[in-house]
Amino acid sequence: MGLEIGEIRHSFGDLMALDGVTFDVVPGVITGLLGPNGAGKTTLLRIMLGVLSPDSGSVRYDDRAVDDEDRRRWGYMPQERGLYPGMPAGDQVVHFGRLHGLSRSDATRRAKALLEELGLEGRWKDRTDKLSGGMQQRLQLATSLVHDPEVIVLDEPFSGLDPVAVVSLSETLRQRARIGCTVLFSSHQLDLVQDLCEDIAMVDRGRTVLLGSVARLRASSGRRQLRLHVEPSNRDWLSAYPRVTVVSDQADDLRLEVPDGIDPLDLLDAARAGGRVDDFGLDLPTLSQLFLAAADRPLDQTVVS
Ligand SMILES: Nc1ncnc2c1ncn2[C@@H]1O[C@H](COP(=O)(O)OP(=O)(O)OP(=O)(O)O)[C@@H](O)[C@H]1O
Ligand SMILES: [Mg+2]
Repeated sequence: MGLEIGEIRHSFGDLMALDGVTFDVVPGVITGLLGPNGAGKTTLLRIMLGVLSPDSGSVRYDDRAVDDEDRRRWGYMPQERGLYPGMPAGDQVVHFGRLHGLSRSDATRRAKALLEELGLEGRWKDRTDKLSGGMQQRLQLATSLVHDPEVIVLDEPFSGLDPVAVVSLSETLRQRARIGCTVLFSSHQLDLVQDLCEDIAMVDRGRTVLLGSVARLRASSGRRQLRLHVEPSNRDWLSAYPRVTVVSDQADDLRLEVPDGIDPLDLLDAARAGGRVDDFGLDLPTLSQLFLAAADRPLDQTVVS
């Protein structure tokens, strides 16, 4: 069931943009196609949508090869946006609804509901090019959802959105997943989307470097960090723990990487014996930390935020 991306390879001349990418998108499970700029995300989504033909590999949906007929029913938001600048916002959504075969009244009803859902109520008559960048992006999203697609593929839907719009788009995607849609979106902002994605396919230079459930990947990495707000003067207690790495130590904030086999609560006790602890927490690694470890890249070569 769902989407199956199988061993996709694609080159642009000498550049191997995709070098055997394989993953599934399960209906109802929001899946992130993540990776830094140039990783191959857009190339893969274009292949899935039939805009590009792969050199090899397969895209299957519900256990059969995908054809153009299937793709016409999908909702796709490309990274390079394509709206008519002079058209009023509402008419634009109706127009795309009509292209997907909706009657005028159904398209109008859906357009109204979507503009409201995406925080664009009251903007129906505004010319598209008079909307802000983030609003145009939400309008583009409305055009890709107007026909209630069961497969939703969005390329960088979060880039350029303010924090309120990020929350609202996340809720829109969660709601579509809850009713059983197959939802795949790409992002280079790994930490921004780590709470939204349930599953990820993380790509780097055309290869998959991390795959599967975010919760499992974060919990099983063996890389927990203990965060302590302690008096800066005393760090002597740390010398009893040579396997513990100091990740950062700024002002009163100390961040330690706690390897397997060491109980973070023992460290907390030791810190409290050495001085006053005002605040503490145990953090799982972020997706960008997991990416850096998996891709084995120096920090300055990687664009993740
Ligand atoms: N039409 C093209 N011709 C030649 N090279 C291309 C073309 N499209 C993409 N590439 C190259 O393929 C690689 C992957 O590009 P792609 O756009 O898929 O990356 P991406 O992961 O979507 O990046 P971003 O986060 O910047 O959107 C890059 O090295 C890019 O320069
Ligand atoms: Mg891209």
